[in-house]
Amino acid sequence: MTTTTALNAAAADDYTSRPDASPTDLRHIPGLRGVPFAGRLPWMIRDFNGCLQEHYEKFGEVSFLNMGVGSGLLVLGPENWKQVYLDLDRNFSPKMGYMKSLGDFYRRCILLRDFDEHRFQRRVFQAAFKNDAMRGYLHMMNPIMQRHINSWEQQTAFQFFPGIKETLLDVAAKVFFGLDDLGEDARKLNQAFIDVAEKGMMSLIKKEIPGLKFHAGKKAKAYMDGYISRLIPERRRGEGIDFMSYVVKEKDENGNYFPDLDLTEHLTFLMFAAHDTTTSALSHLVMLLGQHPEWQERLRQEAFSLDKEFIDYDDMDSLPDLNNAFLEGLRLYPSVSMMTRRTVRACRIGGFDVPADTVLYLPPHFNHTMKEYWDEPQKFDPDRWGPERQEHKRHPFQFVGFGGGAHKCIGMHFAQMNAKAFMFQFLKRYRFETPVSYQPWMQIIPMPRPGDMLPLKLSRL
Ligand code: HEM
Repeated sequence: MTTTTALNAAAADDYTSRPDASPTDLRHIPGLRGVPFAGRLPWMIRDFNGCLQEHYEKFGEVSFLNMGVGSGLLVLGPENWKQVYLDLDRNFSPKMGYMKSLGDFYRRCILLRDFDEHRFQRRVFQAAFKNDAMRGYLHMMNPIMQRHINSWEQQTAFQFFPGIKETLLDVAAKVFFGLDDLGEDARKLNQAFIDVAEKGMMSLIKKEIPGLKFHAGKKAKAYMDGYISRLIPERRRGEGIDFMSYVVKEKDENGNYFPDLDLTEHLTFLMFAAHDTTTSALSHLVMLLGQHPEWQERLRQEAFSLDKEFIDYDDMDSLPDLNNAFLEGLRLYPSVSMMTRRTVRACRIGGFDVPADTVLYLPPHFNHTMKEYWDEPQKFDPDRWGPERQEHKRHPFQFVGFGGGAHKCIGMHFAQMNAKAFMFQFLKRYRFETPVSYQPWMQIIPMPRPGDMLPLKLSRL
């Protein structure tokens, strides 16, 4: 077998010049090859978590996986994740890991920047996540959420998933870009965003031919980019307290603004990174609270105990049960079902020699349900996060719902604030029930959610 040192020699410098490189000889690593073209994808769509478990039982924490769209290594367990996330030797590239899935639409986004360049670009978000800014966002969010929540009372066959998706899109238009959530600009931007995600990124034929979904996605992305870039000078001049107004005023160490091209991409990607993830997390939490009415009631009492219409930024720590339930939902149903990296040079993972250009597949759900780290891991038990038990502190990478290391979710606190603000109002407004013995098929790809859109019976309180 070729040694790690020999393979190291050429690989690292030009690793980005090989976007489609695929390794590399992984025959020495056991795993499941699946069927021609599709690999293991059909099994993974049907039973994602079952497939991970099967790999683990047959081959251990590191195994070969053919995802159809590409193949690489399935990497499980917090110790291996620690190596990848901390990346002390700069072996693992998110840019190349995500190039296939995100590169067509978000090639310059923060997640597709590696190492020093990534650290430099991340500064652009600094001011936008400070406490005063967050306080302002929460004030904008609350009334928009209230309007949507109130409107649900009139719906006869209410489905939670489309309801929360629309709500959070309106919130995003206002909070991220300062657009009136009822205005035509917000509507068009939100539609373009949906077209990128649901048409462009989902298309199998990646050709810009009119009539194809990919083309529609590209047109929508061009619309978003054009709209946002034209807004930059106005937001820079103004005194706005929306997210974009902070980001476009950020300067580098030489006192220069970041280039418009980078800003536009960071802002459109931010919407992508923020929206589907929070929609997914809230859908799962509401599903779990429908299945566990005793917890729903407990959270409702906690919300009523604050005795106010909306939560304020200073109340974020005053809802510990809601906080724990949110994390517990994310543990059982991670919004990002698979993270990816690609090796930039040869290295060793889990005792195997791994060549350069090998894609690593990192699914959080496995770490989140390892019996070595969690008591009764399949049980919905928010108290495991409480001060008495603190189960999540057994290993720094047993919970990776927001990732870890240099690319750890920059919007983690924002996401929690968004979720709490919504749940606080929703719990006080309605008692909600899922259908009897509700066990829907759980979709994982492209985005985790209850497969039937989560029908709910709402009773006004
Ligand atoms: C429940 C909601 C959310 C979840 C579960 C979530 C999860 C994640 C995860 C797992 C990553 C790491 C990806 C990787 O390492 O491969 C990530 C990165 C990121 N998230 Fe979130 N996210 C959420 C909400 C948000 C929000 C609200 C924002 C913005 C306001 C945001 C912005 C980002 C950005 C910009 C990155 C890339 C960071 C970087 O590359 O440095 N996310 N998120």
